[in-house]
Amino acid sequence: MRIIQVESYEKLSALAADIIGGQVLLNPHCVLGLATGSSPLGTYADLVKRYEQGLLDFSGVRTVNLDEYCGLTGDDPQSYRYFMDHNLFDKVNVDKNNTHLPDGSAPDMQAECARYEALVESLGWPDLQLLGIGHNGHIGFNEPEDVFHAAVHTVKLAESTIKANSRLFERPEDVPTSAVTMGVGAIMKAKRVLLIAGADKAGIVERAFHGPVTPQVPASILQLHRDATVILSMA
Ligand code: F6R
Repeated sequence: MRIIQVESYEKLSALAADIIGGQVLLNPHCVLGLATGSSPLGTYADLVKRYEQGLLDFSGVRTVNLDEYCGLTGDDPQSYRYFMDHNLFDKVNVDKNNTHLPDGSAPDMQAECARYEALVESLGWPDLQLLGIGHNGHIGFNEPEDVFHAAVHTVKLAESTIKANSRLFERPEDVPTSAVTMGVGAIMKAKRVLLIAGADKAGIVERAFHGPVTPQVPASILQLHRDATVILSMA
């Protein structure tokens, strides 16, 4: 795996947008695996800028997101569907019918997990999967555990994740405690993986990519991926 260190969040975002934009140019019908959170905000803003400049065309692109909170509908401003619409999908010419996230409000979550797994498989798995990383090493919402979960599954979020996510909610009791996430299977089947990490993640990046491969640090499995790139910002 490659670890590229850059000096700022702006450079991280520009480089990630170069790589994702390059993927779209090389294959206008590619499947992009996407992430939410603070880390990709700059990347999405850069992609929007390039679209507005006429440099990128998303009309044939399909997207699959990693995860969604359980209990939130897509029109809830805290949902990841809302985040993606607001930060990327509504600002470029992607066909919204080709943008996919798990449905966190589905009445039968087990059926929803099976549906989403089958959907991602039917698209042929992501050509490029964008990832952030939690301070505890989670990717998607694959939290530290004794085993790796291959398939889409529901997960009780780790205390540290709930605490980290609470910055985006007005009241602590509104922070979702469970989520539905792609498993590490789909992430490992992505043809390319791009993980972006801000300077505050330097410690966990060191543990995940220079330490043992273990489900206690879920991102560490990326050491076994055949085409994984990490961009780490130094400030
Ligand atoms: C979000 C996701 C999470 C985040 C991670 C880092 O879709 O899958 O794994 O990437 O929690 O979040 P930020 O970027 O907010 O630090």
